[in-house]
Amino acid sequence: TDHNGKTLSYIPYNGHYLPAVKGIRENIERGDEFVSRPDDIWICCYAKSGTHWLWEIVHMLLGNSTDYTSKPKETTQFDFHDAASFTNLPSPRVFNCALWWHQLPRDVIQKKSKILHCMRNPKDVAVSYYLHTKELHSVYQYSGSWEGWVQLFTEGKVVRGSWFDYEMEWSKEGGKDENVLTLMYEDLKKDLVSEIKVIAHFLGVSLPESRYLEMADRCSFGTMKQCKQMSEMENKIMYRKGQVGDWKNWFTVTQNEKFDAVYKAWLESGGPAMCFG
Ligand code: A3P
Repeated sequence: TDHNGKTLSYIPYNGHYLPAVKGIRENIERGDEFVSRPDDIWICCYAKSGTHWLWEIVHMLLGNSTDYTSKPKETTQFDFHDAASFTNLPSPRVFNCALWWHQLPRDVIQKKSKILHCMRNPKDVAVSYYLHTKELHSVYQYSGSWEGWVQLFTEGKVVRGSWFDYEMEWSKEGGKDENVLTLMYEDLKKDLVSEIKVIAHFLGVSLPESRYLEMADRCSFGTMKQCKQMSEMENKIMYRKGQVGDWKNWFTVTQNEKFDAVYKAWLESGGPAMCFG
């Protein structure tokens, strides 16, 4: 509940929160039934941090293709499905999720599947997530204002839980695992070709230079928003603005000061330093 008494709908789960989607808690709990394969690839990001972007890049690299994938991302959205339903998918399987490190099925870590994790400036995440939540009112039931949302986001009382705790955990646990590649949204924006090459190297893919250039072009925000086939709703919320620094249009000076104080404390307690582009 924000300061105006506006509430956000979610499911409390082990001190965190999950979207109010039927069965989600059970599906995560059944993660231990999941049998991983060493060539599985996981894309794990906090909400609004670049999941859909990485999804296309990974598929292009694996298939040496510049077509957008026809696979709906939702069929491999691990936290929305039950573990058993993935056994018939052909390898290499690509999963995506917004799970915390400790919520990932343990077999993923044991079998050393590759995991891509993308971080984004939390202020831009807050804005993107606010508009996402407002647009999907039927799921989140949040009718509050931006002001109320910043408060909830800063306190970590949003679906998916605290950005600060989520990224701290990924940094501490995932950061020491050589099978986890941590990327920054801002780096992808700055030099997509170089980042695509980093991802290719991590996945063990090697292609001619010209191919990386073509993929970067196809995965630029403008091209994706215009050319990828998707529903009107998806276009509106999954490919909204794609910019670095949109937060400056939203945060007031006071909101920014409050946020910076929390961010500073987070850095001091070991949060990974980020370059915001
Ligand atoms: P904005 O709302 O700021 O535009 P996710 O896929 O994890 O839900 O993240 C969605 C965010 O990534 C949205 O942010 C979306 O526009 C942005 N995004 C998606 N594709 C992108 C691309 N090709 N380049 C830059 N940003 C992209």
